[in-house]
Amino acid sequence: MKQIKFFLLLFICYFPLAINAQTGYDLWLQYEEISDASLSQSYLNSLTGIKVMGNSPTLEASRNEISNAYDSFFNQELKNANSGDGLLILANIDQLPANMRSDVKSDIENINSEGYIIRSLEQNGNKVTLITAKTDIGVLYGSFRLIKEMQLHNDISNLAIIDSPKIQKRVLNHWDNLDRTVERGYAGFSIWDWHLLPELIKPEYVDYARANASIGINGTVLTNVNANSLILTEQYIEKVKALAEVFRPYGIQVYLTARFSAPLESGDLDTADPLNTEVKQWWKDKADEIYAEIPDFGGFLVKANSEGQPGPNNYDRTHVDGANMLAEAVAPHNGIVMWRAFVYSEDDPEDRAKQAYSEFVPFDGQFKDNVLVQVKNGPIDFQPREPFHPMFGTMPNTPLMMEFQITQEYLGFASHLVYLPKLFEETLEEDTYVNGENSTVAKVIDGSLSNNKLTGIAGVANIGSAKNWTGHPFGQSSWYGFGRLAWDPYMSSEEIAEEWLKRTFSNEEAFVDPVTDLMIKSREAVVKYMTPLGLHHIMDTGHHYGPGPWVSSLSRPEWNPVYYHKADEEGIGFDRTQSGSDALSQYADPIAEKYSSPKTTPEKYLLWFHHLPWDYEMDNGETLWHNLATTYQEGVEDVEEMVDTWNNMEEYVDKERFEKVAMLLQIQLKESKWWRDACLSYFQQFSGMEIPESVPQPEHDLEYYKSLEFPFAPGIRPSWE
Ligand code: GCU
Repeated sequence: MKQIKFFLLLFICYFPLAINAQTGYDLWLQYEEISDASLSQSYLNSLTGIKVMGNSPTLEASRNEISNAYDSFFNQELKNANSGDGLLILANIDQLPANMRSDVKSDIENINSEGYIIRSLEQNGNKVTLITAKTDIGVLYGSFRLIKEMQLHNDISNLAIIDSPKIQKRVLNHWDNLDRTVERGYAGFSIWDWHLLPELIKPEYVDYARANASIGINGTVLTNVNANSLILTEQYIEKVKALAEVFRPYGIQVYLTARFSAPLESGDLDTADPLNTEVKQWWKDKADEIYAEIPDFGGFLVKANSEGQPGPNNYDRTHVDGANMLAEAVAPHNGIVMWRAFVYSEDDPEDRAKQAYSEFVPFDGQFKDNVLVQVKNGPIDFQPREPFHPMFGTMPNTPLMMEFQITQEYLGFASHLVYLPKLFEETLEEDTYVNGENSTVAKVIDGSLSNNKLTGIAGVANIGSAKNWTGHPFGQSSWYGFGRLAWDPYMSSEEIAEEWLKRTFSNEEAFVDPVTDLMIKSREAVVKYMTPLGLHHIMDTGHHYGPGPWVSSLSRPEWNPVYYHKADEEGIGFDRTQSGSDALSQYADPIAEKYSSPKTTPEKYLLWFHHLPWDYEMDNGETLWHNLATTYQEGVEDVEEMVDTWNNMEEYVDKERFEKVAMLLQIQLKESKWWRDACLSYFQQFSGMEIPESVPQPEHDLEYYKSLEFPFAPGIRPSWE
């Protein structure tokens, strides 16, 4: 009896917890009941019934999404109706009656094929809301927009919204392996359950598509850039097809990574030479085979001759030869090739930051029309801060696709709160000056600078099998923000943060304002406690977890952190001016000139471009060493502030997510101190200068930090032996 009572008590105590448990699975699509009675009433007046004109899985998805949201917002059903005050009409413009079409005539001219119009209109004396577009996908995007307006508690009684994406290919890149490990993934295993596909369709696949469509993402590369040619076999194409069918109503095209040596590995051929006729035919046949199953297949993403991957150079052919050969194979099906420019040679002693530019820029104008060259945001590799990649703007006759990394390979994994849209925005806003002032990176990417017809942007996904998709609850904001910037690369990251917070947590100003501020500052915080003043790539090797500025023993020089910071008794930093590697000359003149002197180089890029003595005088009159040390300390203090801010937010956030973020912030705080202490201990041996008084002495000696090992750090393939 006693035992039963005990269990009953347990049940009573825990049951409410269990039903309220907020895993974060719903992402920003949580449709919470709208508790403000007058707001709720005004929405109910504006939306009394729904009429969907036309019939397609996409229009059905639009109706379902709106109906589900309505159910949750107002605890009542949105009924089908044909007319009346408050009617919501969803229609492709082809389906619109002539009078309505003339109401939105000029708007129609101003949207592209994925854009939408939302208008409050008068119809036979009734007030109606119309969501219309040139395609059904546009209607779906418009439906998500209407839902968003309500999540943000905006007035919807008098709507006149028109919106279109500014970039065509808005794509997630999954670095997912077929064994379900995820390269640089920190949110569990791959969501693609290859073993059980095509039969088992998980609800996650649909929710993944909904989430992406809600922010306008229209493509997904399912597999790792370090590719496995098995994905191109019949057995796997069938599995890919099953996913493509789930994603199709949501406007999401599926792409695959193509391993360049696939014709060889298939056993069919003994070469993968892109100029060989049989090889060309092999890829054409492969493309035909894929398109027969997946008619809207997007195309291929290729990492070739980079970090050991095979490519055209193996046959003394160029990147143009390789990309164009694949482009020809997919062209008859309207497919594209995204050819990566992330290359640096095993034996070229040239500064790694220069190599992609040196290799690709001479090929400008030689790629086929359906090739996009995919370029990482900076010239090294997704560091907490890099200047923009010098290729942006310097290949006017080649569409360049931006590649951002949403997963936090070099930014503290999924344990650090770093709001990446702030970083993305910084790159997009940078002025390349290639066509004079205001030639921003965003204009290169959206094609407006050089009138490129094909445009694209990719984000390396941070999604995995974690219940909340991204591990850190705030990791969702980087996925969200990537999508928003892919739609409109001119949006402010602050506006995106606010939107995300309101949709994900709470509309309360007392929550949204301080937490937006926390998110915006989080990016600079990580730069300060990891790689201040232009330092880069000083993470520990392989897994890239934690500091490792001392690492110098790897076979390839450019894999060693010492290659990047070049600290010695004389000073610290990489001289990329004329007296050094001259990487600076790859930038247009106003930049090349301005950054040639440390005095006129922005401090955030100082050690990226200059090697300077430890006692170099900084703008504030202090020495370089002093500022380096105090900046590390500021980074730690910023995290302390983040902890405090979050701790004051308890009343606005459900217990589960509140506690998770609080615990993760403690990890981030601990690790920020580790970064500060390890880096300052290491650099101090060279500077020979005292750590400033305002900065705590390192907790341990340098040997201790060097001795730390993390054989099971996530993000790299485990070796089981
Ligand atoms: C980085 C990353 C690799 C990845 C590579 C790429 O080097 O560490 O895991 O494969 O980028 O973008 O191809």
